[in-house]
Amino acid sequence: DKPSVLVFGSLNVDWVCRVERIAPPGETVLSPTYTQLFGGKGANQAVAAARAGEDMVAVAMVGAVGEDDLGEAVIANLAENGIDTAGILRSVEPTGAAFISIDKHGENAITVASGANRAPSAASVPAFALNARTVLALQMEVPEAASRDVARLVRQAGGRTVLNLAPVPPDLDDKRLRALCESIDWLIVNESELAAAARCLEGSIDAPHDIQTPEETAALARRLSSALSVGIVATLGPRGVVAIPLAGEVVTVPALRVQAEDTTGAGDTFCGVFSTALAEGLEVKDALSRAAAAASLACRKVGAQSAMPKRAEIDAALAGAADG
Ligand code: RIB
Ligand code: NA
Repeated sequence: DKPSVLVFGSLNVDWVCRVERIAPPGETVLSPTYTQLFGGKGANQAVAAARAGEDMVAVAMVGAVGEDDLGEAVIANLAENGIDTAGILRSVEPTGAAFISIDKHGENAITVASGANRAPSAASVPAFALNARTVLALQMEVPEAASRDVARLVRQAGGRTVLNLAPVPPDLDDKRLRALCESIDWLIVNESELAAAARCLEGSIDAPHDIQTPEETAALARRLSSALSVGIVATLGPRGVVAIPLAGEVVTVPALRVQAEDTTGAGDTFCGVFSTALAEGLEVKDALSRAAAAASLACRKVGAQSAMPKRAEIDAALAGAADG
């Protein structure tokens, strides 16, 4: 039996426009055309995990799509990536859709219409996906209560759990954040998610909106880790990654230098590859290095899944980085 990654999360179709600049409120901008791509934070993480795991790690996705043609196509895409789709239900709601604008710097703005992503529950998790060699990957695009239930199930089975706090709900508070993290081993956040999570903590009205220095990042991550009793992984884009394990020293790893075409899906790539590496039994530092390298590679093409690297590409990039 192989180790496995179970992804419980969203599946979307992404409608992507390239724009000079992202339209501010009240304005309209033109884009020459648009592209239809497969996305959703859950599905993206599953694809990243499967490509990184190749034959070594089995990946299963649990979530929901509509009874429409897009839902059919979304499931077929996962199957083509070698992902088990037995836990994906068909809902009367439409397949989730993400409306994405990418500007000339590769920055993006995204609106997600949840649709079917509001349907999945812990009851959809197939029994085969639950064992002591399972690593669960969660995000924030499906109902929180369902995610918490699945995390509890995986813990009870002896597996490990990873939550990517993306996107951060605007009304997240101390109580909800603690409940979310109750059965979580690793909480993965980018800089703005780290600041938002820190602001949720009771009595931390002084937490900054913008993190300025690496020291500030590490200090906030430490505070969050001890308040929530979880390991924290803070991804800092081109500045790499800082991790605060529950026990042990702070770990930092650099990012690879790449020309960023589109950062959409970079965070998902990181989470998927990190989950696969944990499932394989890698040390945290090595798991973070693989995830950071893969996330950098994923920025080289437009689209979330288009540039997600395979196992050998991650190996080659890490070997290249070691050569200088
Ligand atoms: O993280 C990127 C993803 O967020 C996109 O694929 C889009 O579907 C949104 O869910
Ligand atoms: Na990309």
